[in-house]
Amino acid sequence: MKNIAIFASGSGSNAENIFNYFKDKASADVVLMLTNNVNAFVLERAKKLGVESVVFSSAQLKTDELVNLLKDKGIDFIVLAGFLLKIPENLIAAFPNRIINIHPALLPKYGGKGMYGDAVHKAVVANKEKESGITIHYVNEHYDEGTIVFQAKCPISETNTYEDVAHKIHQLEYEHFPSVIERILAP
Ligand code: GAR
Repeated sequence: MKNIAIFASGSGSNAENIFNYFKDKASADVVLMLTNNVNAFVLERAKKLGVESVVFSSAQLKTDELVNLLKDKGIDFIVLAGFLLKIPENLIAAFPNRIINIHPALLPKYGGKGMYGDAVHKAVVANKEKESGITIHYVNEHYDEGTIVFQAKCPISETNTYEDVAHKIHQLEYEHFPSVIERILAP
């Protein structure tokens, strides 16, 4: 049984979806949800689901305090699901090839600093893209640049608003993210 920790800065709908996917499986469990945002709705979700949650500051993220906490809790794998801050090198070094992120676009397009959530979808619509999608990748010390594990696409029509694109992307995330995590964790 692998212990998964999920980092989220906002709503946490992916965190909840991943939790539900693994709750009846023997392979892994979501045992911890962490956020840098004390007002993040993911905290309500964690409470409802009965999952332990932790709030940390951006300063704490850069110290070994968080690494030690994750080790103490027996965390094997870290999933970033809508997490806004850059992961520091000490955390990457403590979990080599054991941190993945989901990005709501087809990287390398629409990645990098500031490209988060609706900002991504607005840029995609403004550029009249015919398709967008999701990218699941390992986390390294550069935003959105780690090795890509998985991508899936969805079409965008001329009449689609950024909200429509956000909805399509979330559906793709709910469909694929948990099973991609399961595959990565498989021995
Ligand atoms: C997701 O669409 C995720 O791909 C995106 O934030 C959303 C979080 O939704 N992540 C990024 O933009 C990271 N650069 P959620 O809180 O409902 O899971």
